[in-house]
Amino acid sequence: MPENPILERVLFSEQQLADRVAELGRQISADYRGKLPLFVGILRGCILFYSDLMKNISVDCNMDFMCLSSYSGTSSTGQVRTMLDLRESIKGRHVIIVEDIVDTGLTLNYLLGNLQNRGAASIEICCLLDKPCNRKVDVHPKYVGFTVENEFVIGYGLDYNELYRNLPYIGVFRK
Ligand code: IMP
Repeated sequence: MPENPILERVLFSEQQLADRVAELGRQISADYRGKLPLFVGILRGCILFYSDLMKNISVDCNMDFMCLSSYSGTSSTGQVRTMLDLRESIKGRHVIIVEDIVDTGLTLNYLLGNLQNRGAASIEICCLLDKPCNRKVDVHPKYVGFTVENEFVIGYGLDYNELYRNLPYIGVFRK
């Protein structure tokens, strides 16, 4: 396991991530056969997870992205802004939101309301990490990679002030 002074410890190794993401991909593929799902990746944290997940999706699908901003440092500001919107209409589509981590749930709560107003046929959430102990609003992701404690984690897309997204594993940040 790599030694890294910015980490208290590694939580999920590259292999653990790869195995779990493959399982999620198989499960989603089975659930969405014949439905032409639209995978909406939430930039920028989703990027590594999204890419690996899509390689494990075996049904026809479409890809799109949104960029939302709600964080500064290690705590949620609670204010969500849309920095980049979807390219196409989602009316009648089966949407799967692909997110790095659900923490307070404020970001996804905002996004679910926003996408529901656009007439999607269904909307589910696929997140790599779920931090349910920190929830401020009721949000229930259907597909969850791992549940984590109330710790600030980085790597595999997750950042601290825009750093460390490129780490191929996930670890607890040493503040
Ligand atoms: P929420 O609105 O509090 O659920 O936060 C969602 C966003 O906060 C995620 O998409 C992440 O970008 C960021 N976030 C929440 N917890 C962490 C963490 O432990 N590490 C890095 N980013 C986090």
